[in-house]
Amino acid sequence: MAQRTARLRAGEISARKGKPFPVVTAYDAPFARCAEDAGIDVILVGDSLGMVVLGYASTAPVDLFDMVRHTAAVVRGSRTAHVIADLPFGTYEASDADAVKHAIQLVKDGGASSVKLEGGQAMASRIGAIVAAGVPVCAHIGLLPQTAPMGAGFSVRRDRDVLVEDAQAVADAGAFAIVLEVIDPEIAREITAQVTIPTIGIGSGPACDAQVLVLHDVLGLYPDPPRFAKAYANLANDATNALRAYAGEVRSGAFPPRRTT
Ligand code: KIV
Repeated sequence: MAQRTARLRAGEISARKGKPFPVVTAYDAPFARCAEDAGIDVILVGDSLGMVVLGYASTAPVDLFDMVRHTAAVVRGSRTAHVIADLPFGTYEASDADAVKHAIQLVKDGGASSVKLEGGQAMASRIGAIVAAGVPVCAHIGLLPQTAPMGAGFSVRRDRDVLVEDAQAVADAGAFAIVLEVIDPEIAREITAQVTIPTIGIGSGPACDAQVLVLHDVLGLYPDPPRFAKAYANLANDATNALRAYAGEVRSGAFPPRRTT
């Protein structure tokens, strides 16, 4: 089979409905390369950036400049992956015009393949406006981390009627996929069966079309992962041990090696 040279398009992701696929977040070039080398061709530059990389307590402080800079790094580190960039809190809520302007900035300055924003029926008009401007949109319903600390909190979302209507509204508005975050698995199953675009679950059970996890949770790099995450490595330990070995060798004089001639 000929090797792919162009980035995966949003329409190709929509066409994966019913076929499971992995999505992972990344925030820099080296880990984007790792994800792509591992065969993951949909990378999310999530505003979880704020917590797992920048050290904030929530995603709220992340701004457009942060997202552009980290999206551009992920784009430089990957070749053919589809790179979804989060619109950070405060860049799309006020108006369709704001949403379109900032989505275009993520594409022009960051090189994003598409953007993601949080919200259901209330954001349908924003999604429609961005899609009309030519930028594909991934929707995100259920637990909405940008506003959860100020309102609904972090518990499992079980409001079936609202969630089903949210999913249909964002699909009708033109989203190419929907993240379902921390939704009761039975409701996630019903939504997945109902909408014609792929659902990308996080903490929403096995019936979603795809799954997404935060890179630092997969790699064991974040000290406080959510209960639904699974760590496939403990890179925090590995990194500490490597640095301890380096520090020890510098202190003992073993590094750098002495010249023998
Ligand atoms: O910011 C993020 O990483 C996300 C995922 C949790 C879906 O939105």
